[in-house]
Amino acid sequence: MSERENLFRPIHKGIRSMIYDMGSRLGTTDFRDPVATTRIAEELEANLALSTSNCFLCLLSVHSQHEERDFFESVRPHDEDVVDAMLKEHRMIQARVRQVVRACGELQEESDPTRRIELGDRLHMEVSDLFVSYLAHLNNEEALLVPVMWEHFTDEQLRSLRGQFYNRIPLPRFEDWMRWTLPALNPHELVVLLSGMKTDPAPNRFADAMRIAKETLEPDRWSLLEAEVGS
Ligand SMILES: [Fe+2]
Ligand SMILES: [Fe+2]
Repeated sequence: MSERENLFRPIHKGIRSMIYDMGSRLGTTDFRDPVATTRIAEELEANLALSTSNCFLCLLSVHSQHEERDFFESVRPHDEDVVDAMLKEHRMIQARVRQVVRACGELQEESDPTRRIELGDRLHMEVSDLFVSYLAHLNNEEALLVPVMWEHFTDEQLRSLRGQFYNRIPLPRFEDWMRWTLPALNPHELVVLLSGMKTDPAPNRFADAMRIAKETLEPDRWSLLEAEVGS
C-alpha cells in the first residue's frame, strides 16, 4: 500500500459500501407492497433537485460536483485529457441517474401489484447499469487521476486540497459522507484520514468526524483509532 495521500480512496470506499448496501436492499424489496415500493423509491431519489437532500442518487450526483469543483480544476493544468475523460464519465453517469429516476416515477404511479413487480425488475436492471458505470468510474479516477496528482503535488498540497474538499461541504452532508466512509476504511486508512483532518484549517471538521467514528465503528476499532489519533 502506498503511503502517499490518496484523496479519492476513502470517499470511494464509502460510496462502494453505499452501492453494495442499496443493491442488497433493492434486490429484496417486495414491489407488490405499495408502501415498500414508495420507501425504496424515495430512498433512491426523493428531492433530487434539492442540494440538501441526502437521497442515494443525490449523494452519487453531488460527489461528482464536489470533485469537479475541488479536484478536477487543480488537475486540469497538468493533464487536460484525463480530466476531460472523467467529466465525460460524469455526464454518462448523470444520464443513467435520469433513467433510474424515470423508472422510479413509473413504479410509484403503477397501482397494479403484478405490473409493479415487472417495473421493479426494470428498476433493478436500471440501477445495476448505473452501478456498473459508477464502480468502473471510481476505479478509473483512482487509476488515472491519482498518479497525476502524485506527480504534481506534494502530500502537504494534497492534504490542503482534501481540507478544501471537506470544508466546503455543509456539515449535515459531511456527516452523511462520514457515516458511509469511516466504517468502510481499514485501521491504517482511518488513522491517515483522521490525523490529516486534525490539521485542516477552519472550519475544522476533526471533532465531528471523531464523533461520527465513535458512533459508527465497532468498539474495538474505535478504541484503536482513539488511541492513535487522540480526541
Ligand atoms: Fe467522479
Ligand atoms: Fe469519485
